[in-house]
Amino acid sequence: MLARKIKENIYWMGSVDWDSRLFDALVPLPDGTSYNAYLIKGSEKTVLVDTDEPHMAREFMAQLEGVAKIDYIVSQHAEQDHSGIIMQVLNKYPEAKLICTPKAKGMLTDLLPIPEEFFITVQDGEKLSLGDKTLTFIYTPWVHWPETMVTYLEEDKILFSCDFFGSHIATSDLFVTDEGRVYEAAKRYYAEIMMPFRKVIQKNLEKLAPYDIKMIAPGHGQIFPRPEFILNAYHEWTVGAPKNIVVLPHVSMHKSTQLMVDHLVTALVERGVRVEPFNLAVTDIGKLAMSLVDAATIVVATPTVLAGPHPYAAYATFLANALRPNVKFLSIIGSYGWGGKTVEMLAGMVPNLKVEIIDPVLCKGVPGEDTFNALNNMADIIAEKHKENGFV
Ligand code: FEO
Repeated sequence: MLARKIKENIYWMGSVDWDSRLFDALVPLPDGTSYNAYLIKGSEKTVLVDTDEPHMAREFMAQLEGVAKIDYIVSQHAEQDHSGIIMQVLNKYPEAKLICTPKAKGMLTDLLPIPEEFFITVQDGEKLSLGDKTLTFIYTPWVHWPETMVTYLEEDKILFSCDFFGSHIATSDLFVTDEGRVYEAAKRYYAEIMMPFRKVIQKNLEKLAPYDIKMIAPGHGQIFPRPEFILNAYHEWTVGAPKNIVVLPHVSMHKSTQLMVDHLVTALVERGVRVEPFNLAVTDIGKLAMSLVDAATIVVATPTVLAGPHPYAAYATFLANALRPNVKFLSIIGSYGWGGKTVEMLAGMVPNLKVEIIDPVLCKGVPGEDTFNALNNMADIIAEKHKENGFV
């Protein structure tokens, strides 16, 4: 794709990655993604904000044909999908300087052979004049690594945000046209890479509040011409209370655990609790991550395999612990053959979750009336706790 004009003297550059289905060999990308960079031409200086994924180098360098001079490259985030072509750009424009945070300098040096003389590190809030345009660099750590910053273009009121406010969507639309679609993609993205740092993200949002932002140009996905849409969504995800939702990741081998899951789903729904079950044998793990953004309770359902949880259940539990959602309650249900330590092993895997454990329900073999009554009791407890806490 060619460079595309956003406003006078401001251009989108980068690539639309239509085919990628996995990011960082972990994050599912059902809709592909894009890697966005931005070229800003001031009356005196020209700046390139971020670069591109290394395997997109040819397309990116072709977009720079006809750009006579770049004075600065701003590297807002050291991860390779934004920094991967810095060396090629510096080789084409050897007079350019590379602007980043001091922490990013160390990380970029670890990842790329960038000579020391190219670097200029900036302080939080530092400004750079391009002549008729002014950039302000704002430290926003942990969106998504510790070194990240965003860049505010004062005269045009555009925030360049790199991973912050991104979404993994491949589309030919430069600007957000379908907010519903982008909401879902941005929430998935938030769940997978931002949620673990929710408290810091809240502080970053507060830090941006004084800026008059009329447009947000992220490093992935479409540009937001109505920034309040994504700012409000981030506020809801980071500050909002959990909702009256149980997330139920489950796996079953001989259908005994499945019978328990089916019963619990029905019991919860009867009591007015929303349930999001995920069959771990077939589920998109990104959807599970997304559902954790709002959930008040997680119930992991697993058979006992080799004296412990099924590996899929262990994976889902490990992921939930790593993503640090704002859940308040946790429990475990499942069937076993003769014994094991499923509950102890799963409970030991969630040190990051500040949750109250609701008594698990385990049954030997196929569940009977006693087990179903115990699941009804669990549903009563969950419904009551959600109500007590005002989760709606
Ligand atoms: Fe888009 Fe953290 O890289």
